[in-house]
Amino acid sequence: MGYAMAERLARAGCDIAVWNRTKAKADPLAQHGANVVRELGELAGRDIVFCMVSTYDDVKEVIGKVLAKGKPKMVVECSSISLEGSAELRKTLEGKGVQYLAAPVSGNAKVIKAGKLTFVVSGPKAAYERARPYLDKMGNGSSYVGEGELARIAKICHNVFLGAVIQSLCEVTILAQKAGMPRHAFLDFLNKSVMGSMFTRYKTPALVNLDFHVTFTPRLLRKDLDLGLDAGRELEVPLPLTSITRDLLQQMIGHGLSEQDFATLLLMQARASGLELKSENVKVSDGLS
Ligand SMILES: NC(=O)c1ccc[n+]([C@@H]2O[C@H](COP(=O)([O-])OP(=O)(O)OC[C@H]3O[C@@H](n4cnc5c(N)ncnc54)[C@H](OP(=O)(O)O)[C@@H]3O)[C@@H](O)[C@H]2O)c1
Repeated sequence: MGYAMAERLARAGCDIAVWNRTKAKADPLAQHGANVVRELGELAGRDIVFCMVSTYDDVKEVIGKVLAKGKPKMVVECSSISLEGSAELRKTLEGKGVQYLAAPVSGNAKVIKAGKLTFVVSGPKAAYERARPYLDKMGNGSSYVGEGELARIAKICHNVFLGAVIQSLCEVTILAQKAGMPRHAFLDFLNKSVMGSMFTRYKTPALVNLDFHVTFTPRLLRKDLDLGLDAGRELEVPLPLTSITRDLLQQMIGHGLSEQDFATLLLMQARASGLELKSENVKVSDGLS
């Protein structure tokens, strides 16, 4: 994710320095004009540091190393991390006079390449206005949702919706197939209809040709559904579809389907319906390229 985001900034002519733990992965960015640095501390003097790693522990580690060498004017944290982690990071950064925006994203690396990444942002409005032109260069715009860690909740809501949508998409695709039509024909109709979306289109090749190359693991999706259910309990909001989807996902993980893409929910739905699925080997568009 971070590579594709940095590539867009560099191609847009921004003066950027890039650090990645495995430097070799970032080196090709130099051909687009980025300065690929060896030490995290070299980012300390920059105006804005964008952070895109894995978990909150990783965020803490990398931001800690930047702060050990100085302080940027602003940190924009884009990884999917918890509300609590984000609040702790805000306290650390604001305590040192560094502005902080929580800015998780929607999209995968292919979506970024296609210029369709979106950000949901929270933190001081003035900081958002300063960062906004760069967010715009990385994707398809950003949505400001308010102060503090609200963007983290928005991202949890987004992934709760993602869980319910993929399960529903798998159910109707199997229903259509069992009634006698090829998956690609049904999904072609759905994608052209008012119910079609960027998501249904880019998941279509996986559902048709059973290519479950991972874009997001079932365990990570389960984590986000759990975060959503926790928030529902705390705020007293019933989330019945989320509860059912979480259980279906748990069943799938229990059956050992945990390392491929979360779209393997299709295989579970097929098994439960007495269908053995085969790839249709049909070239279908993902709507991105
Ligand atoms: N993939 C998606 O579709 C997607 C969509 C939305 C949000 N996200 C979120 O975006 C974040 C990044 O996801 P990704 O798909 O880019 O993950 P990824 O391909 O696994 O890349 C993780 C990146 O973080 C670096 N990293 C991890 N731990 C680190 C540490 N302790 N110190 C320094 N660097 C560390 C890795 O460096 P190395 O190269 O050295 O390993 C790599 O650059 C995650 O929070 C994820 O949940 C992902």
